Amino acid sequence: MTRNAGTGQGEAVACTGLAYAFGETNAVDGLELSVAEGEVFGLLGPNGAGKTTAIRCITTLLPVPAGMVSVFGHDAARDRMAVRRLLGYVPQQLSADSGLTGRENIALFARVFDVPRRERADRVGQALTAVGLTDAADRLAGTYSGGMVRRLELAQALVSAPRLLILDEPTIGLDPIARTGVWQHINAVRAATGMTVLVTTHYMDEADQYCDRVALMHRGRIRALGTPDELREGLGERRRAAGAAATDPLPTLEDVFRDVAGSGLDDQAGDFRDVRSTRRTAHRVG
Ligand SMILES: Nc1ncnc2c1ncn2[C@@H]1O[C@H](COP(=O)(O)OP(=O)(O)OP(=O)(O)O)[C@@H](O)[C@H]1O
Ligand SMILES: [Mg+2]
Repeated sequence: MTRNAGTGQGEAVACTGLAYAFGETNAVDGLELSVAEGEVFGLLGPNGAGKTTAIRCITTLLPVPAGMVSVFGHDAARDRMAVRRLLGYVPQQLSADSGLTGRENIALFARVFDVPRRERADRVGQALTAVGLTDAADRLAGTYSGGMVRRLELAQALVSAPRLLILDEPTIGLDPIARTGVWQHINAVRAATGMTVLVTTHYMDEADQYCDRVALMHRGRIRALGTPDELREGLGERRRAAGAAATDPLPTLEDVFRDVAGSGLDDQAGDFRDVRSTRRTAHRVG
């Protein structure tokens, strides 16, 4: 894949100077972000960092009041429909309807995302197969386990064959086997289609294992960017320069996270709304 971030060529997502405020809260505050076509890009950061808000601007669900967002060269403010046609989105909050079957939920997304009518039944069937839900397809989603619901939501996002898949905490509340399963499904689709993936997660092991590059967001901006190895080695070097022994173990990605976000965690740990909404999601899918 071409890695040519910054020029528009081979760039799946570009945010320049993106800002979004809720009243007095500057949720996104001058965000610079470039996701290259074909990569798995992890957006990490503490509760309240602005990840979901930034993602909602990229998906066109929120407007772009300041700065610019483009998806495969399409301006998210001016060309919303073109952007929407290119992406699949698994939101942080529950998006499946418990009163519909798995198949009906996916069919609904196929219709909303403009999958041609004559292709819909096939594409829904393929999406169900891709996430291993064929046997449960005709049961109400309300009877699914948390892991099944998250896989259903993944199928909803994949049914339109997106060039860009955006996942906001796709594995929250899942057991280790279910988490691995979700990633296996994502990677199988990537291998077949070259799809780009933009994902947020609080699981550092997932970011380390599955992301080509990660960005650490804090207070509305990117504070560190690189491959997981680069970020670890960078912190190791800084620690050695500050007097740490050369024999000290290499920092983990969690150490990098603490280094970037640690100082502000107390006052920025997310207000009650964040905690409550995250718990609700964890509870409902878990
Ligand atoms: N609808 C809203 N109304 C008011 N404030 C909001 C709203 N949504 C988000 N915020 C605020 O914007 C800031 C960023 O929130 P956001 O949900 O983008 O963070 P996040 O990085 O996704 O956090 P988390 O890891 O908890 O999901 C927080 O201070 C939050 O309280
Ligand atoms: Mg969020």
